[in-house]
Amino acid sequence: MRPGPRLSAISELVRPGDRIADIGTDHGWLVLDLLERDIVRHAIAIDRAARPLANAAANLARLDRTRFELRRGDGLQPLSPGEVETVVLAGLGGARIGRLLDAAPAVVATLARIVVQPERDWIAMRRWVAARGFALVDERLVADDGRFRLVCAIDPTRADDRPWTEADLAFGRRLRVDRGPTWRAWMEQQRRAVLAALGACGERRPDRAAQLRARAARIAVELTRWPDPRASLAGRGPAPEDSGA
Ligand SMILES: C[S@@+](CC[C@H](N)C(=O)[O-])C[C@H]1O[C@@H](n2cnc3c(N)ncnc32)[C@H](O)[C@@H]1O
Repeated sequence: MRPGPRLSAISELVRPGDRIADIGTDHGWLVLDLLERDIVRHAIAIDRAARPLANAAANLARLDRTRFELRRGDGLQPLSPGEVETVVLAGLGGARIGRLLDAAPAVVATLARIVVQPERDWIAMRRWVAARGFALVDERLVADDGRFRLVCAIDPTRADDRPWTEADLAFGRRLRVDRGPTWRAWMEQQRRAVLAALGACGERRPDRAAQLRARAARIAVELTRWPDPRASLAGRGPAPEDSGA
């Protein structure tokens, strides 16, 4: 099996040697990739629906049966505290991922890593991380199948080292420091979308137009800002535009 950029990015953020649970496993492709390449020690593939689990069972059938389990249930509910070091929640909305994690505090308390790939609601996902005070240890954007996908690794055992800003929430806390080509392409796409919405809205709805203009301005500042935001990470204080929305 040859995973695409999205699944590859998720696999890369799983810690080698961990016992993992893949929540909403669907076809079990992530578990298959991680076990075939001997990245993880053991995997629990969880889904709330019978048909995806049957698909996962078929796809995993050629693997050593002692290395994985299939469990049916809602979110992290089929897990007991301490059973796995890492959970992966991919392909679900960011707000829903947060709710599933919140519904299992005893399990989350024993995790060393949470890997998420929110399909939408990226800001809600980041707000969830910020509100819990967990450390965001990696954040990547990949282009896959004509869409941008966000993949994050969270360390729930470590407290965050600095406050989140509105720009972190909107544009990516680590992404806007790394400023890679995929992030720039995504930012340009955001800018085009906001300008198109502004053109369509015109001045018929002045409040909405003002909001869109402000958002376009924030994107433009973010794309051109200098010095590099790493300066603020090095303790030289926040960049001016970090102070507000
Ligand atoms: C879009 S697929 C994502 C599959 C896979 N994680 C991926 O990223 O390719 C969503 C899967 O999550 C399952 N799912 C949705 N909500 C769930 C929940 N609360 N608990 C467990 N599984 C869930 C669905 O049945 C479906 O198989």
